Amino acid sequence: MKQKRIPVKENQEYEMNVDDISVDGEGIGRIDGFTMFVEGALPGERVRIRAVKAGRNYGYGELLKIIIPSPDRMLPPCPYAKRCGGCSLQHLSYNRQLEFKTRRVRDALERIGKITGVKIHDTIGMQQSWRYRNKAQFPVGMTGGSLSIGFFVPRSHDIVDIDRCIINHQVNDKVIEITRKFIEKYNVPVYDENAHHGIIRHVVTKVGFKTGQLMVIIVTNGRYLPYKDKLVELLRNNIPGITGIVQNINSKKTNVILGDENITLWGQGYIVDILAGLTFKISPLSFFQVNPAQTEILYSKALEYAGLTGRETVIDLYSGIGTISLFLARSAAKVYGIEEVPQAVQDAWENARINGIANVEFITGKAEEVIPKLVDSGLRADVVVLDPPRKGCEAGVLEALIRMAPQRIVYVSCNPATLARDLKLLTEQEYRVIEVQPVDMFPHTTHVECVTLMSRV
Ligand SMILES: C[S@@+](CC[C@H](N)C(=O)[O-])C[C@H]1O[C@@H](n2cnc3c(N)ncnc32)[C@H](O)[C@@H]1O
Repeated sequence: MKQKRIPVKENQEYEMNVDDISVDGEGIGRIDGFTMFVEGALPGERVRIRAVKAGRNYGYGELLKIIIPSPDRMLPPCPYAKRCGGCSLQHLSYNRQLEFKTRRVRDALERIGKITGVKIHDTIGMQQSWRYRNKAQFPVGMTGGSLSIGFFVPRSHDIVDIDRCIINHQVNDKVIEITRKFIEKYNVPVYDENAHHGIIRHVVTKVGFKTGQLMVIIVTNGRYLPYKDKLVELLRNNIPGITGIVQNINSKKTNVILGDENITLWGQGYIVDILAGLTFKISPLSFFQVNPAQTEILYSKALEYAGLTGRETVIDLYSGIGTISLFLARSAAKVYGIEEVPQAVQDAWENARINGIANVEFITGKAEEVIPKLVDSGLRADVVVLDPPRKGCEAGVLEALIRMAPQRIVYVSCNPATLARDLKLLTEQEYRVIEVQPVDMFPHTTHVECVTLMSRV
């Protein structure tokens, strides 16, 4: 068989035009028809690159020089933009980021879901697109012999040492500073993941944007944390308004950040926040949407798509601490929430009580195990809301839903690819997609959240 000629050689320099952008935010161009992905390059630009990898069908290049810049190019405001890679779109103007996200959703639906001709609305963006996150997770370790608190370098476990992160709430800058002081002053060993040795692994924070409450969670490898009273003292003395300090134990050799056990070192072992007029208690292990301003928009859309009149039975699958369940319960006859994390379900019951909402019930368990049993027991819902993690729904969940035959399905998703896969399965049965609303929950990153309305044919 004739060998395919690859016109690009590794380590050689080339000039190319960039004409598209990948789902991961890399610029895409062609050299003699051969596709190259280049981080940091934008459509409309002419760039000089060095080929770092040339595979059979495509390659990767390192951006050396922008010869003709795009009019949409911005100077990244974050000093760590080049090394951190967390906000990989911050060199692109915000309006173009929103267009990119809408197109990303359309492409996924067409390519993976084989769904065309559906109304995909423009992505709803933010007025203030920085400092929007209410939850931060900073790995702690030694990089090149020095203490580093920050973010993992892309595709590596080296940590970029930072003193601020401008997508997170301002208070995090102080938390990083104080944690660093504590580790240095008391010589507390930080975690070395190769040796599975050392103590402090991560600093996690949760902030209530409406209430101002702040919980700092120090994740440790094992229960032993020396000088904990000094840590509490330092955090309390330097961060006004802090409401809780928690030690989370994670002794496993894993990339999962939080372990199962929490010890409250001081104050509350949770935070409280308010969303769309409802009060929520949020524990260390419970999921809560990270962008509260956009979450209100997202949930309002979900409510609109649910089309409730007050008489409906609703199932909220993957219900977390009951946010969507309680939001919809005000307009429905009965809502069932299903969630696998026991602590989140406990929070959900507590949240129903705090808000005086009685027409909800929460079930602990995996959606794929609970929902088929509920269908077998004869439970029927008029509306089902799905809000799964990034990997989407297991096929068994969707098959059970088809048997249950709700009139409407509202699918909230943070991953267009798994959304498209799941919609495909449903559209091959008795459902059709009516419309999709992307919401920018994660400005300056390539991620996008969507609410999709499906109706039974
Ligand atoms: C994207 S979050 C949505 C939570 C909630 N709807 C909200 O908006 O805050 C997904 C939730 O699904 C839960 N989860 C993950 N896999 C699950 C499964 N197989 N069955 C039930 N819940 C699951 C997670 O613990 C998490 O709370």
